[in-house]
Amino acid sequence: MISVVIPTYNEAAVIAETLRRACRALEAASEPFELIVVDDSSTDGTAEFAESLAPQFPVRVLRRPGRLGLATAVVDGWKLARGDLLAAMDADLQHPPEVLGELVRALRAPGADVAVASRYMSGGGTSDWSLVRRFASKSATHLAASVLPWTLGNVSDPMSGMFAVRAATLDGVRLDPTGYKILLEVLAKARYRALVEVPYVFDRRGAGSSKLGGRQSFEYLVHLARLAGATGQLAAWVRYLAVGLSGATIDLVTLYLAAGRLGWPLLAAAPAAIELALVSNFFLNESLTFRSCHAGEHEIGSRESEVGSRGLLSRFLHYEKACVLGALLNALVTVALTKSGIRLLTAAAAGVVAGGAWNFLFNIPNIWRVWGAPTPVSRSISKCSAS
Ligand code: GDD
Ligand code: MN
Repeated sequence: MISVVIPTYNEAAVIAETLRRACRALEAASEPFELIVVDDSSTDGTAEFAESLAPQFPVRVLRRPGRLGLATAVVDGWKLARGDLLAAMDADLQHPPEVLGELVRALRAPGADVAVASRYMSGGGTSDWSLVRRFASKSATHLAASVLPWTLGNVSDPMSGMFAVRAATLDGVRLDPTGYKILLEVLAKARYRALVEVPYVFDRRGAGSSKLGGRQSFEYLVHLARLAGATGQLAAWVRYLAVGLSGATIDLVTLYLAAGRLGWPLLAAAPAAIELALVSNFFLNESLTFRSCHAGEHEIGSRESEVGSRGLLSRFLHYEKACVLGALLNALVTVALTKSGIRLLTAAAAGVVAGGAWNFLFNIPNIWRVWGAPTPVSRSISKCSAS
């Protein structure tokens, strides 16, 4: 049986259609189901109206005393659930209820414990989002992948609000999310072995408008920080940044000695200094930052066991490959600024900042994937094409 929690805040105009389509989708999937509407004191009568639909649909309504947030609404709804599968879906028809059938099929097939409806895989998409909303969503996804690389691995849409999870993977787990992103909480804390993504197109709202605002964005950042602490990634980040600072120092000192004292040509000194820093960073990350990772040889949420049997040399070569663009950017900025008359060490510092910024903004999941994640179980991510 699947228990679908539908969080509502002022969705009276659309909730009947949502319940009807959800029932039709789950009947078509021949899956026993229940719907749990969790309403946060809507002012438009959503709760009363949903309760009046109980004779037509297998729906229960949990009323909460105030607007307490989407993610905790899902958690509270799951506490009432009777199903062995738990799901979440928005009430406004932007998550097409028909996708529930896909999520059920994905979890009724052997292996997967989590099934996520993804906008960012082939067959997925967002219908009428503005460029601003698309950029905001992609940036939020990228930020999460950089702050929580062990948690998100290759999940293409960790911001998704539509997903299903095997209840057993949450036994004994205390879900304590902030804001909107309940899936982040599940990915960080559930003991799951395999996650399947199914494509969907985020649809137009059935009625009303999005309740996402500045408060939810702030809560998202708080949630990320809390999960980084709870999963050990914050401590790993502190070690990783300390190693990066040591590498920057090695880069600058080596460049000063080679080009400034030994008279090496800049085009030889800059790459040599950067490479020496990279080698030092690799061995310090190997022995300090990610010590608990490669020992377990677990994946970081990849399809194949990229880390599984990787030895030291292979990790080193993967690290060099992951860092090559940042290193090139560092060298380019250093040489260009020096040639334009900027003092050598100032130019080199600017090169370090440029290369470091590139890695921080675009490359962290790639770099951290060299060592994998200290997950208790190896995890795999696979994708279901639209059936
Ligand atoms: N109970 C409760 N409490 N429900 C809420 C609250 C709340 O404080 N805030 C919003 N909801 C309900 C809305 O009624 C709707 O059913 C659902 O949560 C989503 O709210 P929207 O405001 O429409 O969110 P969105 O469309 O901008 O974003 C949604 O989709 C994204 C992509 O899947 C959310 O689910 C995001 O978390 C998600 O990333
Ligand atoms: Mn919506």
